[in-house]
This record gives sequence, C-alpha cells and structure tokens, in this order.
Amino acid sequence: MSKVKACVFASGTGSNFQAIIESENLNCEIVLLVCDKPGARVIEIAEKYSIPTFVFHPKDYTSKAVYEKILVEKLKSAGVTWVFLAGYMRLIGPELLDTYEGKIVNIHPSLLPDFPGKDAIGQAFQAGVDKTGVTIHFVDAGMDTGPVIAQESVEVLENDTIHTVTARIQKIEHTLYPKVINQLINESEATLCAKEL
Ligand code: GAR
Repeated sequence: MSKVKACVFASGTGSNFQAIIESENLNCEIVLLVCDKPGARVIEIAEKYSIPTFVFHPKDYTSKAVYEKILVEKLKSAGVTWVFLAGYMRLIGPELLDTYEGKIVNIHPSLLPDFPGKDAIGQAFQAGVDKTGVTIHFVDAGMDTGPVIAQESVEVLENDTIHTVTARIQKIEHTLYPKVINQLINESEATLCAKEL
C-alpha cells in the first residue's frame, strides 16, 4: 500500500524538515516542500533529497487568498493530505485552513501559550524563565494558537546561553516532530479503516 502523502512548509534553515525526511520509519511520504523565502537553506535540503519544491515570494501576489489558492492546487495535484509547518513564519489563511481542516500541524519552540510568534526562544530567555520547551499543535487562524497535540519541556539552567538552550530545544524538536507525525497519521488511518468496516 502506498504511503500517505504530506507536504512541509518552511521558511528558513530547514533542520526540522531534514529531521522529518531523514527519520527512520516515517509513515508518510514528503512529496513537496513549500517555501516562501527564495534562497532559504531548506530549499537546498529538498534538492539534495530530490523532493519537489514550490518556492514563492508572497509579495508577488496581490493577497494571501490569491497565493493560497495556488498552494491548494499544488497540494491537491501532489495528492497531499497532511501539511506540516516547520519554521513557516506566516499565518495560514482560510483557503488552506478550510481545505485542510484538522490536517495542518505546526511546531513551535516554547511551551504555548507562552511566547508565541517570532523568536520564542529569545523571548523566553529574556523573560528569565527556568523552563521552556517545544509545542506541536493543530493550526488555526491565530498566531501559534490551536489545540495542542504534544509538549515537551526543557530546563533553562543558570549557565545556559541562548545558544545552548536553542540547541537543546532543537534536539527535542527533531525527534518529537517525526514521532508526532507518525502518531497522527496512524490514528487518522485507523479512524478511516474503522469507518470503512
Ligand atoms: C523551529 O525552532 C520551529 O519550532 C520554529 O522555527 C524554527 C525553524 O527551524 N517555528 C516557529 O517559531 C513558529 N512560530 P528550522 O528551519 O531549522 O527547522
């Protein structure tokens, strides 16, 4: 049986994208990378692994609705059923949310609802918290809102720097995201099978 097809959206370095595609026993096939930052390093990773990319510049379109309509077409024609945001630094609009209801997932480097938005690790560090972490959640129209699927905490130690905390958070991200992806797809396939019985 062929695997469920999924797409990753990313804007930057792509360490999570890389961790997902390199993960052993991933139960979906990443058939497309969508990137809103021409020149981002994540594109090189996709090319290295021969994963098709759709790279666009939002400013080239008159509105989010216009480019998201195009994204929906691309995703549908690639047979995508799940969308995983991995450092995609844009809000998702109604075109995508309505088409992929309950199938868009995001990873964020804090214990949401604390420190949403950009530079969550820097925000937590500045706030002097002794614990931060990683959240994986379903995406809704808000900024890093939406129902939480999984969270893992990371202690902030006295001699930590932003770099050491970032490294610890990323290490967790890289194992937690593939694990959660597998769980979500297993659960949704099991529900589908039960409905067919
Ligand atoms: C990750 O830490 C991810 O959690 C964060 O961007 C980074 C992307 O790194 N996402 C957000 O802040 C979403 N609000 P990567 O490009 O190396 O995967």
